[in-house]
Amino acid sequence: STCRHGTAYSVIESHYSEILTETTYFVPLEQKFEYWRLKITNESQRRRELSIFSFCEFTNQWDTFQDRVNLQYSLFIVRGELTGENLLRIAIQDNLTPDTGGDFISDIARHCWMGMAEAPIDGFDTSREAFLGLYRGYHNPLVVESGRSTNSKAYGDNACGSLATSGSLQPGETREILILLGIGDAHTVGKRTFAEFGSLEQADAELEKLKTHWHAQLESLRVDTPDADLNHTINVWGLYNCLVNFAWSRSASLVYNGERDGLGFRDSVQDILGVAAAIPEPARERLELMLTGQLSNGGAMPIVRPFEHNPGHEEAPHPDEYRSDDCLWFFNALPAYVNETGDLDFYNKMLPYADRGEATVFDHLRRALDFNLERSGVNGLPCGLSADWNDTLRLGYHGESLFVAFQLRLGLATYAEIAERLGKPGQKSWALAEQKKLDASIQACAWDGEWFIWAIGEDGTVYGTQDSEEGQVYLNTQVWSVISEAATADQSARCMRTVHERLATPYGLMLCAPPVIKTSIDVMRAVVFNPGIKENAGIFNHTQGWGVMAACMLGDGDRAYEYYRASMPAAYNDRAELRQIEPYVQGQTTYSTYSPRGGNSRTSWLTGAAAWSYFSATQYILGIKPEVDGLRIDPCIPSSWNSFSAVRRFRNQSFHITVHNPHGVCKGVVRMLIDGEQAAGNLVPAGLPGKEHQVDVWLGP
Ligand code: NOJ
Repeated sequence: STCRHGTAYSVIESHYSEILTETTYFVPLEQKFEYWRLKITNESQRRRELSIFSFCEFTNQWDTFQDRVNLQYSLFIVRGELTGENLLRIAIQDNLTPDTGGDFISDIARHCWMGMAEAPIDGFDTSREAFLGLYRGYHNPLVVESGRSTNSKAYGDNACGSLATSGSLQPGETREILILLGIGDAHTVGKRTFAEFGSLEQADAELEKLKTHWHAQLESLRVDTPDADLNHTINVWGLYNCLVNFAWSRSASLVYNGERDGLGFRDSVQDILGVAAAIPEPARERLELMLTGQLSNGGAMPIVRPFEHNPGHEEAPHPDEYRSDDCLWFFNALPAYVNETGDLDFYNKMLPYADRGEATVFDHLRRALDFNLERSGVNGLPCGLSADWNDTLRLGYHGESLFVAFQLRLGLATYAEIAERLGKPGQKSWALAEQKKLDASIQACAWDGEWFIWAIGEDGTVYGTQDSEEGQVYLNTQVWSVISEAATADQSARCMRTVHERLATPYGLMLCAPPVIKTSIDVMRAVVFNPGIKENAGIFNHTQGWGVMAACMLGDGDRAYEYYRASMPAAYNDRAELRQIEPYVQGQTTYSTYSPRGGNSRTSWLTGAAAWSYFSATQYILGIKPEVDGLRIDPCIPSSWNSFSAVRRFRNQSFHITVHNPHGVCKGVVRMLIDGEQAAGNLVPAGLPGKEHQVDVWLGP
């Protein structure tokens, strides 16, 4: 069998006993059903008689947790049948009336339906036990083995959906069959949907529509570099990963088995970085949602529930529940949207706080800064509160987080720039004065000689120093000292050297080293993890983009590229058995060399790694950076690249960019032509007349 994934569709092809089947699975745009488009070919030299069965096992209860644990209830609520319209009807709690019974009833009494098109139905099954047979499983279902459906009507226990057809195929002959599997009542929704969509022509048209939809989003940037792996990561899979992340945030997936109905605050805000160029409008809507998840004290709701969220009326969390970093991610995400669109006025938009009151987006930002400034510890650094980015860190409420200090510094600097743009000099000077005070506090207590410390506990213990036996070097405070520009040139060079010497592995940068083993669980819950994974000296892929950005900011394109490739899924395509997860998608964590299984990755899809890796590669390595006034071209590439080209869609124009690197440097634009005309610097101004523009850039010493 071969399984091929495309953008929102998958094709599974199998050869078995000289029969070739090719099934394309997808959900059409805006619909609540999926197509299984089956193509069967007789590859043998003789006529073949075939029995063909669809099969799907349904959940009984739509509350996944209840479905698993509450069997005294869930095994008595399902019924199945074949309707007069030849659709399978799987009804949950069928005595209730979902359409008129209000939200609660609609939620618990949801039905499913299945239909088959382009072939006559010979039989059906809706009872799982009848289909599989007693003491059997999916490897030997009785119905398939005997070649005959039982026409079972589920009445309690577990339901399934199976439709059967049969027929013969001449040598070389192909037959196509269509299955539709949807949510809703077969009598109404199913009937309507099947009538409209139940044909091969319609399925083909819907697949084309789906592809066009996704490909249009992927058109925001196309690159052609000397690295083919990087090209298809940027052009397709990396961005697709970001878009899927954005759509699902951290709700149900392979690793969160349902029961997660909210958007985790910090991750959802960071997701914007991956999609702002591709889908700026939905990115703005999400930003607005998250801004209304900010409380009037500047902190954030830990989770925003998009369906139930009631801005202005949410209950504020208990003081102990605030994370220290949540709203600081706005200083990355909001400029990402505004720079992409030029929509500076967004900062003036009035939006409610989660609990009470409303303010402009700009004032939301001020409140975010105040939140951390008002919660500073004895050393003048922001308190860690219930946790910072690192979920496993417990510094005590008044313990101080250096990572948050660097985020706050970047926040103050960004706020000052926005204030300048909006003509608010008072706010600008306030932010710069606060930044100066913060810088002094950082320099007074956070530099340890060759690197920055990790954090300071409430009891005064300093973590991440040369004297620390465990967790001596912490990645985030090194890379963020550079990203926030808090580190001096000397500190930047030294701490990034330490990162390379102490944290770099062939599979990426470890979050800390050495692992924590004896450290108290009261301080670092990471001690629950085996050494070399997750927050315990694992490679936390969320952070890899930060390593890339920091290396680029120091002009080291060779190192940045090395770090990028180490955690780029496509770089492992010819040794996928090493990563062990899908070779086209980011995983949250990778086993490091502190474990016996270095390189194995886990927890794919919904990880902050997707957004930061896309953002760092496109805006730092390739250096195509949107700014309010235009597109800045400032690459930091491997010195071995002679050139690369890109097509960037930016504010409804297309820029065909070619970067020439005749001297084999990493960074430094020495010349730029826009449509053949010499430009003053390396900013391609927004709003040039015309739709298409050619930009030529030369790097040099
Ligand atoms: C996973 C969480 O989703 C993310 O928000 C957090 O930053 C990392 N864990 C690190 O602890």
